[in-house]
Amino acid sequence: MTLQQEIQRRRTFAIISHPDAGKTTLTEKLLLFGGAIHVAGAVKSNKIKKTATSDWMEIERQRGISVATSVMGFEYGNYKINILDTPGHQDFAEDTYRTLTAVDSVIVVVDIAKGVEAQTRKLMEVCRMRHTPVMIFVNKLDREGKDPFEILDELEEELQVAVRPLSWPIDMGERFKGVYNLYQNSLDLYQPSKQIVTESVHLNIQSPEVERHIGAKLSEKLRSDVELISEVYPGFNREEYLAGKLAPVFFGSALNNFGVKELLDCFVAIAPSPRAVQTEERVVDPYEESFSGFVFKIHANMDPNHRSCIAFVKVCSGRFERNVNYKHVRYSRLMKFSSPTAFMAQKKEILDEAFAGDIVGLPDNGNFKIGDTLTAGEDLHFKGLPSFSPEMFKYIENADPMKSKQLQKGVEQLMDEGVAQLFTNQFNGRKIIGTVGQLQFEVIQYRLLHEYGAQCRWEPINLYKACWIESDDAAQLEDFKKRKYQYMAKDKEGRDVFLAESNYLLMMAQQDFKNIAFHFNSEF
Ligand code: G4P
Repeated sequence: MTLQQEIQRRRTFAIISHPDAGKTTLTEKLLLFGGAIHVAGAVKSNKIKKTATSDWMEIERQRGISVATSVMGFEYGNYKINILDTPGHQDFAEDTYRTLTAVDSVIVVVDIAKGVEAQTRKLMEVCRMRHTPVMIFVNKLDREGKDPFEILDELEEELQVAVRPLSWPIDMGERFKGVYNLYQNSLDLYQPSKQIVTESVHLNIQSPEVERHIGAKLSEKLRSDVELISEVYPGFNREEYLAGKLAPVFFGSALNNFGVKELLDCFVAIAPSPRAVQTEERVVDPYEESFSGFVFKIHANMDPNHRSCIAFVKVCSGRFERNVNYKHVRYSRLMKFSSPTAFMAQKKEILDEAFAGDIVGLPDNGNFKIGDTLTAGEDLHFKGLPSFSPEMFKYIENADPMKSKQLQKGVEQLMDEGVAQLFTNQFNGRKIIGTVGQLQFEVIQYRLLHEYGAQCRWEPINLYKACWIESDDAAQLEDFKKRKYQYMAKDKEGRDVFLAESNYLLMMAQQDFKNIAFHFNSEF
């Protein structure tokens, strides 16, 4: 196969949802279709959400499992599919944001009864920011839920994207009969007892055959629904989908493996192959011969006795090869890798080559940070690995004066790994850790102790948001920094951050300093 063909056939995506909507179940069924696993129940990815938040041994154990399920690659027909897993627990949402920078598209899973939930809304914001193409799977049709038209309205409103149903449910709950596949014009009949096999009948919606399968009443309802759909929703336009403006919607039941194959078949046909990526220097085309890629995730210290990590690299262009020298751009140094890993289904295996779209795991002992670039020699810096304003803040203090060096090193490494964000107050020099959720503070404390032998203590700080500030008006910027010096901090990269104590104070600052832009993420 040529380089072009290899890259063209790759589909790299993430499944996102609110916990319990069915992400794990859907992932598992997709793997079954790919022949990557053979029994249901084999995927128990990131089930941290279901364990008590203070159960550290459990989290440690699961961190091990989640390496294996971080990326699930498999072959399906002529396609090479890479599913990137995202943590289920919302306290690790920052991890998910970063994973979204490494995918070419996304499948959103929504529970028919619960509709769009908080976490989905937030993750979708990141997709919109990046114009990531999104497909939606409305799950659990075997249960009672909201009216499908109501769900479509909700999706459009809450996710701020135009939708277009490509399948349409015929009743739901115990009366669920199946879906009419508007993409392939077929009637897919639901047979709860027969897993995997779906009876799919190709027929025109007007054909009397429809009555034979689902009865007169439901046929009439289906026809009028389909007519309404064609009036209300624009025809499916792939360009709009690829631009992230239009989301096709499928209905089904992941648990019963219903509607999953249809979703997958449509997905491989319309979802994008690896896309061009913007760097600070230029746009990188995936089909370029020379390799380039960036680190989007670091999975560290699996074994506390050996400070070993795996750096996950998204290949952005060309071909990556084992034992070939590549440039670590931040160090301006050549490195080669003798045991890079690929993630095929549940197994980690040494790979000889990988192509744009693939994820490569590089064993590492502290050389990589999130956002680092590897290339065949060119100096490139990939853009778009945003930090978002954390939701919670605490001062971090050293609780063991004999171990201040260990603490400093531990904090630095955990931040490089992207566990949380560090801000240094310019006024008093105190260090502030910002997280998305409480659990992250506990993880940091635990890991500092177990991996670095350092002890920390948290002290409260009253903060609402951290805002990255910028302005063309140098005088006003200086004036602002002077007047707000107690609230000014630097982030890890040395950028200016304003620590707002409340929404009110932030609004006042925005009003008083009109020439200053306040950003809630670091990428502007
Ligand atoms: P998540 O990864 O998004 O958190 O969701 P997950 O797949 O774990 O699914 C959450 C629960 O919803 C699971 O039940 C799962 O079996 C159920 N589920 C998934 N898809 C469907 C569906 O199509 N119909 C119905 N009725 N249920 C579905 P659980 O009891 O919480 O977990 P488990 O013990 O079965 O794993």
